[in-house]
Amino acid sequence: MSNGTENREQWGSRFGFIMAAAGSAVGLGNIWRFPYITGKNGGAAFVIVYALIVFTIGVSVMLAEFVIGRAAGLNAVGSFRKLKGGAWPIVGWMGVIAGFMILSFYGVIAGWTIAYMLKSFTGLMAAGAAGKAGDVFGAFVTNTPQVVAYQVLFMVITIWIVYKGIGEGIEKYCKIMMPALFVILAILIVRSITLPGAGKGLEFYLKPDFSKLTGAAVFAALGQAFFSLSLGMGCMITYGSYLSKKEILPSAAITVATLDTSVAFLAGFAIFPAVFAFGIEPGAGPGLTFVTLPNVFAKMPGGMIFSFLFFLLLFFAALTSSVSLLEVCVAYFKDELGWTRDKASWILGGIITALGVPSAISLKGNLKIAGKDFLDVMDWGSSNVLLPLGGIFIAVFAGWVWLESAKKEATNEGKNPFGWMSAWIWICRVVAPIAIAWIFVKGLKW
Ligand code: TRP
Repeated sequence: MSNGTENREQWGSRFGFIMAAAGSAVGLGNIWRFPYITGKNGGAAFVIVYALIVFTIGVSVMLAEFVIGRAAGLNAVGSFRKLKGGAWPIVGWMGVIAGFMILSFYGVIAGWTIAYMLKSFTGLMAAGAAGKAGDVFGAFVTNTPQVVAYQVLFMVITIWIVYKGIGEGIEKYCKIMMPALFVILAILIVRSITLPGAGKGLEFYLKPDFSKLTGAAVFAALGQAFFSLSLGMGCMITYGSYLSKKEILPSAAITVATLDTSVAFLAGFAIFPAVFAFGIEPGAGPGLTFVTLPNVFAKMPGGMIFSFLFFLLLFFAALTSSVSLLEVCVAYFKDELGWTRDKASWILGGIITALGVPSAISLKGNLKIAGKDFLDVMDWGSSNVLLPLGGIFIAVFAGWVWLESAKKEATNEGKNPFGWMSAWIWICRVVAPIAIAWIFVKGLKW
């Protein structure tokens, strides 16, 4: 077993690392879930609660992950083995398994974004003009060979970037795709809010309604924050392991969380004004993205281009997240089992792609486990079970088990002290474990 720390790859610059970590965080979750949850749960009132959660619990768990990863300089399993041993590597193991599971179905859905970029020019707008984008979507997702073909294409791109390595692959492409993502988002926002009647959409999205801030809304905010920041499965441990000892970690965690939250918040400005300008009812998730929006784009001048740009935006968001998921698995096989990066990327990527095929098949609604579609089972098992458990253990590890070293690592041996150290510690010790345990227990409902 090599311990992988000699000649370990490193991020080339702080900017590159931030783009990669923000790329991991900014994903499908930001664009198709956040705006809708916000609209449903009290608008601006919900945004305030969400931001509070992100900048307390979210940033703290992210910082804990960065600290663990950089201190050990190893993958998620190796980090726990090196820093403490005992049963702790199991936390890393759960993360690697979650990586396999999430990427398997994430790749399927991400493949749709490629299909829809092309469809923007071939018939989707005509169908949308008749309000029939739903038929196009139905025909597409039940055509399993096509869905799998796009999934394979997306996965090959993901694998290729990871195979190129940290600096020459993940960092290089995130440095291009993330700024591009911001530019596209800005174009879509301007288009959307300048449509006549856009104000109604803004009202749906942001009008503060504190009466909707129920326990269920807070719960939704917590779960969304966790998934959106890519926490709980060692993604940020793995990315942290490629950081230089000089990097200031607390500010990095805040920057990544700010970028992630900004994209989520801004996505709503690209979506709802347009949806309401054309008098269409908004939905969430795949329905909003692949049915409602094409119907909307079809009705606006230049819709074809805006449709293409929107799916390109989703494609970039998904790709910068999928590489982080694969990297968690690759880093483990590289560090712990001595595989080369080439071998780990292509073999693990291949296995994950194969594991995604049942999810693709289950879109037809006839591959179920105990009443749930296979895809939903993978999503449920990772998001509702493995991630929250991972999050609890990561917080407890930093706050109780490995506290003195965590403090040293977070301040670069005292050279870069930060003011809210005690807040961070108490969030890791008490607030985060209790809050996440709540997600876990409530989420166990099948
Ligand atoms: N954060 C991404 C999104 O919002 C998804 C993601 C990437 C993720 N890596 C992760 C979620 C690790 C949980 C854990 O779509």
